[in-house]
Amino acid sequence: MTGIRKEVTIGDCRLILGDCREILPTLGHFDAVLTDPPYGIGADAAASKVSGFQGGGMKAAKGVYAATDWDAAPPAQEVIDLMREISTHQIVFGGNYFHLPPSKCWLVWDKQTNGGFADCELAWTNLNKPVRRIVHMWNGMLRKGGEERNEHPTQKPLGVMQWCLTHIPQAKTILDPFMGSGTTGVACVKAGRTFVGIEREPSYFDIACRRIQKAVDQPDMFVAARGPEPVQQPLFGGAPA
Ligand SMILES: C[S@@+](CC[C@H](N)C(=O)[O-])C[C@H]1O[C@@H](n2cnc3c(N)ncnc32)[C@H](O)[C@@H]1O
Repeated sequence: MTGIRKEVTIGDCRLILGDCREILPTLGHFDAVLTDPPYGIGADAAASKVSGFQGGGMKAAKGVYAATDWDAAPPAQEVIDLMREISTHQIVFGGNYFHLPPSKCWLVWDKQTNGGFADCELAWTNLNKPVRRIVHMWNGMLRKGGEERNEHPTQKPLGVMQWCLTHIPQAKTILDPFMGSGTTGVACVKAGRTFVGIEREPSYFDIACRRIQKAVDQPDMFVAARGPEPVQQPLFGGAPA
């Protein structure tokens, strides 16, 4: 029993509908986990009940999202520990809500807002580099259509997840056990990485499938044009370097 309720492969992405607590132990090793787990602050209930909820700095219209309870509590410590065991690198949004060891490198998403849910969101990492910050405002890009449309109460901006991937350039296989609407997967498609995503709510799983399919169907020029890695030829004969 793996807990997999449904599985879809889109390009280099494997999308799994199910509970990551059951599925994580059945997966192999990943170069990196890039994820945004529930913080345990009730963002889901607020978004489905309250008009004008500021989830991630975004206004959500009343009744847009399905009423669920996925944000009632943060993930169990065993899940956090398991994510770390099965991956080399980790970038975990909401790291200030979970029990994680001290870190040299936090990735800071500065929303350029004052008030609302939070002015910044913090991703804990195990990277050996200094703290880095991205300034990215949702307002102004929201509901213009395309990928920045807000389809999940705590959807992360695509640009923020793409920026996270630039901090782990060597990571080819990426896991997001709390996939939501699939923003990490879209970022992986655009960066040419292999992705595995897990989501428990069928409506969010369907949104993730649609967004990732769209990203695969409309690849960025630089990813599509990228050929095989160049082989450096020796100047004076002999085997390639
Ligand atoms: C903070 S949201 C992720 C949002 C995502 N970053 C995005 O841009 O859409 C966390 C997601 O984890 C899902 N989730 C919560 N517990 C889960 C579990 N045990 N297994 C799989 N998914 C889970 C929730 O349904 C929710 O969609």
